[in-house]
Amino acid sequence: MLLLSPQNWADYELIDCGAGEKLERFGAYILARPEPKALWDKSLSQKEWNGLAHTRFVQGAGFGKSGKEDSGSWVLVKKMPEQWSVDYQGNGFAEKMRLGLTAFKHIGVFPEQAPNWDYIYGATKRIGDEMGGVPKILNLFAYTGGASLAARAAGADVTHLDAVKQVVTWARENMVLSGMDGIRWMVEDALKFVKRQARRGSLYQGIILDPPAYGHGPEGERWKLDECLFALLRECNAILAPKDSFVLLNLYSNGYSAVLANTLVREAFGGAGHTSFGELIIKDRFGKQLPLSVFVRIER
Ligand SMILES: C[S@@+](CC[C@H](N)C(=O)[O-])C[C@H]1O[C@@H](n2cnc3c(N)ncnc32)[C@H](O)[C@@H]1O
Repeated sequence: MLLLSPQNWADYELIDCGAGEKLERFGAYILARPEPKALWDKSLSQKEWNGLAHTRFVQGAGFGKSGKEDSGSWVLVKKMPEQWSVDYQGNGFAEKMRLGLTAFKHIGVFPEQAPNWDYIYGATKRIGDEMGGVPKILNLFAYTGGASLAARAAGADVTHLDAVKQVVTWARENMVLSGMDGIRWMVEDALKFVKRQARRGSLYQGIILDPPAYGHGPEGERWKLDECLFALLRECNAILAPKDSFVLLNLYSNGYSAVLANTLVREAFGGAGHTSFGELIIKDRFGKQLPLSVFVRIER
């Protein structure tokens, strides 16, 4: 089991976490926001948090009760812009992402994903060399495109898919900011798209999935992780190239272990290939390890 965290990322730091919150620096700005997994005490005092933070996300009434994320608002403590950008210097590639304070405590990047971006870049490059051609990579539930940019930087033909048009527009901005081009953008329901690709006999060398617990496609198609994930993975098996290929599944849902993700992927992809799995974690300044998601990778 692997425990992976971002390494030497100049534009990002988890300063402290505890009491249901995390204090993070993105570039020049420090943000305090909810973190349900931070069940322990903060290492710094509340006074120190207040002194450091530029802004703090305050949850709306009923937060966490509906099983979905309720909105809230950012309270500005010190002057900062509503939009700014951070650079990520990966292993052999670089990407730039625009950040913004959204109504759902998210800001356009999940920093713990950095080790996945490094993996995607390395696997895509290796597969391109092995096949002596341009690998096709499909990024499902792709949000603002951190993973799409890593695959594109490695020379792939990338399809970036998300159900939300504004998020796809944001990803396109990140591509331009990063000095890249040529990503194919899809605003569609993930399962519907993969089924269509399977019917057409399309094949991909890499499939990346980061599905949420609940969601919906642009035409109201219902996504519920517990009910839909295995079916989606089975469909992905039909469009994954039989050799020189990889799958990366990431799960944020509470209650899903890395072993469960590994079994799911092994069963859906017929057990062939080599899998590795683990947790994405971030260490704060005081050495406290905050686990954020689980992942599994399969290579054929
Ligand atoms: C957890 S986020 C992905 C985070 C991203 N991979 C990253 O690392 O930055 C989940 C994304 O899935 C999208 N989504 C939800 N339901 C969907 C569906 N049925 N089809 C396609 N995308 C969907 C949401 O719009 C959201 O952008």
